[in-house]
Amino acid sequence: MSMNTNIEDKMEKIVSLAKRRGFIFPGSEIYGGLAGTWDYGPYGVELKNNIKNLWWKNFVTDREDMFGIDAAIIMNGRVWEASGHVSGFSDPLVEDLKTHARHRADHILESAGVDCSGLTPEDMSRIIKEKNIKSPAGNAFGEVQKFNMMFKTNVGANTDASSVSYLRPETAGGIFVNFKNVMDSLHPKLPFGIGQIGKAFRNEIAPRDFIFRSREFEQMEIEYFVSPDGWKDAFEKWRVAMLEWCNDIGLPADKVFEKEIADEDRAHYSKRTIDIEFEYPFGRKELYGLAYRTDYDLSKHQEYSKQSLEYFDETTGQKFIPHVVEPSLGVDRSVLAVLTSAYSEDEIGGETRVFLKFNPKLAPVKIAVFPLLKNKPEIVEKAKNIYSNLKKVFGAVAYDESGNIGKRYRRQDEIGTPLCVTIDFDTVGAGEDASLTNTVTVRDRDTGNQERISVDDLQNYFQEKLA
Ligand code: GAP
Repeated sequence: MSMNTNIEDKMEKIVSLAKRRGFIFPGSEIYGGLAGTWDYGPYGVELKNNIKNLWWKNFVTDREDMFGIDAAIIMNGRVWEASGHVSGFSDPLVEDLKTHARHRADHILESAGVDCSGLTPEDMSRIIKEKNIKSPAGNAFGEVQKFNMMFKTNVGANTDASSVSYLRPETAGGIFVNFKNVMDSLHPKLPFGIGQIGKAFRNEIAPRDFIFRSREFEQMEIEYFVSPDGWKDAFEKWRVAMLEWCNDIGLPADKVFEKEIADEDRAHYSKRTIDIEFEYPFGRKELYGLAYRTDYDLSKHQEYSKQSLEYFDETTGQKFIPHVVEPSLGVDRSVLAVLTSAYSEDEIGGETRVFLKFNPKLAPVKIAVFPLLKNKPEIVEKAKNIYSNLKKVFGAVAYDESGNIGKRYRRQDEIGTPLCVTIDFDTVGAGEDASLTNTVTVRDRDTGNQERISVDDLQNYFQEKLA
C-alpha cells in the first residue's frame, strides 16, 4: 500500500537517509562543515558514477558525431576574460547594514513577491527601498551590487596580475579552448560535438537545498558545433535527447518541464535558452539548460588568443566560425532528481518501509546475497560461492549475513538494491522438498515478490532483470 509522503519533510527524510546510509555527507563535517560543499560516500559515488557513465555512453561513445575530452580545471586566466566571465559572471548581492550578512538580492525580492526577470541591480535597490524590504534579521539593506562568482587564485609562486586564474565556473571553457586541438588531431566534419564531465566551481552567495546549489559541483556538458544555419535543427534534436535522458534515468514525465528563458534573463552568450525544470520537493527548479551560444565563444577566443578558430567547409569552399548548441547537465542536480524520484514508502507487515526505487542501471548495489543463517557452514559456503560468482559478472554485489532476513531486506531496500538472493536449507538439499535443491529465493525490491530460481539460471535471470 502506498503512503502519501508529507512534502515538507520529504527533503529532510532524503537528506537524513543520504547521510545515514552513506550516499552524501556534509563537506568537512568533523570541522563543522563548509557551506555549499558535499562529500559523496560509498553508495553516493556509485550512484553518481552510474549516472555519469550512462551519460558518457549515451552521448559520447554510442554516437559517431561526438568526441570526449578531460581538460584542466585551472586554465589561463585570459580564457575567462575572453568568455566574458571576469566582467559578467555575477549574481546580485545585498548586505544587511547592521549584521553585514550578505544575501542574494533576487532571492530576497522573490520572497517578497517581486518578479525579478530582467531587473538590474539598480532596479532591485530601488524596489527594496520603495517596498521598505528588511533583511531576515529585520534590518535595513545597503545598495545591491554585482558579486562575481568565480573563485580566484594565483598560479605559481608569484601573486602579480599575470598569475591570476580561476577555478572554472563551467566545464564549457575547456571545450572551447580545445576546439582547435580536436580539429587538428581528428579532423571531424560539422556537425560534431565535444563532451566533457568534470567539476565546476561557483562562489554562490546562498548555497541551498542540499546538493541543488553548491559551490563545488559537477557538470556533463556538450558543445555541439554546427554551421551558422544548422543551429535550429541541432537545438531541436538536443531538446528531444535531453527529455529522453530524463526518462532514461527514471524521472517521471509529469515532473519534468521545459521553460523558454526570456531575452532579458538569458546568459550573456545565449540567443536562445530552454531550461529543463524538475519538480523537486522544494519546488519546480532548473535541472538542466540547453543554449544556443551562437559563435560567441569561439569568436571571443579567436580574438583573445589570436589563433584562427575557423572551420573550412570543403563542400562549399567557405570558411567560418562554427556556431554552438550546448546541452548542459548538472551531475549533482541529476543525483538529487533521481534520489527524490526514487524515494518511496509503503507498508509491509504493519510497518512503514522506506525504499529507493532506482532504475536498476543506476542502483549502487545491483544484487545482495544472504545465507539464511550464518551459523550453518553448508549454507554460508554455498552463499559465498554464489556471491563471488555473481560479483565477477555484475560487480556491484553485496553479501550480508547479519540480523534476520527481514532486516537485511530493509537495509537493501533503503539503498535501492533491486534484487536480493537468499540461500536456505532447500538450496543445499537439507530442506523438506528435494526438488528445491540448488535453487534460491530471489526477492524483488519494489513488489516484495519472491521467486525460486535455479542457481544455474541465476546469471541469465539477473542479466535480463537488470538490463
Ligand atoms: N555551460 C553553461 C552553464 O554552465 P548554467 O545554467 O549556469 O549553464 C548548467 O549551468 C547546469 O549546471 C545547471 O542546469 C545545473 O544543472 C548545474 N549547476 C549550475 N550551478 C550549479 C550549482 N551551484 N550547484 C549545482 N549545480 C549547478
